Amino acid sequence: MKIGNKHYRSLWWDDQQGALQIIDQRALPYDFREQSVASMQDYVDAIAQMRVRGAPLIGATAAYAMAYAMSQDPSDANIQRAWETLYATRPTAVNLRWALDRCKARLLGLNAAERAAAALLLAHEIADEDVDINRRIGEHGLQLIEKIAAKKSPDEPVRLLTHCNAGWLATVDWGTATSPMYHAHNKGIALQVWVDETRPRNQGALTAWELGNHGVPHTYITDNAGGHLMQQGLVDMVIVGTDRTTRRGDVCNKIGTYLKALAAHDNKVPFYVALPSPTIDWTIEDGVADIPIEERNERETTHIQGIDGSGDINTVQVTPEGTVGGNPAFDVTPNRLVTGLITERGVCDASADGLAELFPDLSA
Ligand code: MRU
Repeated sequence: MKIGNKHYRSLWWDDQQGALQIIDQRALPYDFREQSVASMQDYVDAIAQMRVRGAPLIGATAAYAMAYAMSQDPSDANIQRAWETLYATRPTAVNLRWALDRCKARLLGLNAAERAAAALLLAHEIADEDVDINRRIGEHGLQLIEKIAAKKSPDEPVRLLTHCNAGWLATVDWGTATSPMYHAHNKGIALQVWVDETRPRNQGALTAWELGNHGVPHTYITDNAGGHLMQQGLVDMVIVGTDRTTRRGDVCNKIGTYLKALAAHDNKVPFYVALPSPTIDWTIEDGVADIPIEERNERETTHIQGIDGSGDINTVQVTPEGTVGGNPAFDVTPNRLVTGLITERGVCDASADGLAELFPDLSA
């Protein structure tokens, strides 16, 4: 997507440096910092410290990390070592395991001498595939937005609500939940997007930054405002992303998503999840029981980052000294609260049958 007039992906390969380039998302939306990732420790830190974040982007970054590992030591032992090191960086988004497994399977089938070049090509392939998947999610989600728009006058906006950042910054391009929004906006459909702040790390500010750069009208709201807005009839549809969706359609996403789904259900507001197929965990059914929920540092809750009047990025404490913070980073929305899953192959019910019908090749 564009920043100003320049098209960006959230990561790209620099041939001259022979290194991956990322946007350090910890500094956004205040400062735009490009960074090189040039060692295994850099890759691990980039994912664990959330310089890159969002399930699909974590997966693509891990593929480039495997390519880096192969450029250093293409042995079987190093494939396994890199797999284990990277797998430990963030536990919830299943795209990480998906990308690592795909790299491992491809690389173990090759001679050691072929692995470095093949791993880099595979990383490019995974990144390009992500862009294509998200574009197609956008086309399918657009049809849902068009149906709502058809019932309104042309200047009356379709009012969408989203949580966290499931935007292009969380993927390689387009985003998942934001892709239908960008497609609708590009087609001239009037939109108004409610953007949840998404404490503790305020990924909503990333969404606001993205939408603002693309000219999509939006309003930044506190996490607690969504239920009220739905009660007032001010939300036509909720679209969120997902970090892991089970084979029966339970959806794990950023903490607070479940509460939005409950409010949507109570107010009969359609609640859709934009779901790229690499985010489906076909090995599990019950998301509440079986998805590991990342518990992050309590400091993310007791402190908050922002920009001060002189333009410096600062962190301030919001709690009394010594207050203990609790920080589960994700929650699970049971499939009964999900109106539908917007995948690259179309929209389906959040159910085992719905997913199996669209993905017979993957679900078997
Ligand atoms: O902790 P984060 O910022 O990596 O969490 C991101 C989310 O929860 C996104 O909604 C999810 O990864 C989908 S991204 C297309």
